[in-house]
Amino acid sequence: MGFIKVSSFLFVIFFLINGGSSTTFTVVNQCNYTVWPGLLSGAGTAPLSTTGFSLNSSESRVISIPASWSGRIWGRTLCSQNPTTGKFTCVTGDCGSSKIECSGAGGKPPATLAEFTLNGATNSNIFTSNLDFFDISLVDGYNIPVTIVPHGGAAGVGKCMAAGCAADLNVVCPPQLKLTMEDAAGVAVACKSACEAFGTPEFCCSGAFGTPDTCKASEYAGFFKKACPTAYSYAYDDGTSTFTCSGADYVITFCP
Ligand SMILES: *[C@@H]1O[C@H](CO)[C@@H](O)[C@H](O)[C@H]1NC(C)=O
Ligand SMILES: *[C@@H]1O[C@H](CO)[C@@H](O)[C@H](O)[C@H]1NC(C)=O
Repeated sequence: MGFIKVSSFLFVIFFLINGGSSTTFTVVNQCNYTVWPGLLSGAGTAPLSTTGFSLNSSESRVISIPASWSGRIWGRTLCSQNPTTGKFTCVTGDCGSSKIECSGAGGKPPATLAEFTLNGATNSNIFTSNLDFFDISLVDGYNIPVTIVPHGGAAGVGKCMAAGCAADLNVVCPPQLKLTMEDAAGVAVACKSACEAFGTPEFCCSGAFGTPDTCKASEYAGFFKKACPTAYSYAYDDGTSTFTCSGADYVITFCP
């Protein structure tokens, strides 16, 4: 009983110091074109104040993130509103809502994803509670360079450092994976994952290839990993791709 009381007391202290304040995301667009960030909250987490907005070149926006939020942010590119129908669509990352706000829909692959699980390890151990897990994922392909840089946090069980993919992979994307614009001959706008391009269990880490032991990095995963060593290149690329901080704020930058 004494131990429980002491640990609850410590937890309250820890919470007051660290866990009571919510996190902020600063979303920055350093691309020389407009990006329309989309935001999707995970099942069972608090919604955000926005699910999608427009960010001009060299603009940024600060978003207050509720405690224990999980979800993803991605960039939509080449968006426009149809003057006749009023429908808003994007060439990459489109969320299908026909509006700037995504309202609970995710982005269409290929899209570079910034993924977060804040205060993720919610268990009774005060030393592993209040940790944020984050990564940049190219598992659903790539459309735009994105990085996550933590500020003011402490290292958790893993590395508390920048994650991401700063390289422009659209130009150098292997021809089999290249997504080109229909009306602008040959201009690459995104780079598909091998899973999306070929759909086989081997590339998708499904079926007989559904475990870390059986699903190995393909040559295509190798292409993504070489260009972007701190981003997920395929489903089981955990070792070098997951980052952990405690009590940090995060800057998410398009075209860092
Ligand atoms: C954006 O930058 C690229 C590469 O530096 C350049 O080719 C392009 O003309 C620029 N576009 C605009 C709208 O400034
Ligand atoms: C973004 O750019 C557009 C077009 O240049 C401009 O009309 C709009 O006012 C800008 N938005 C902000 C918030 O500066």
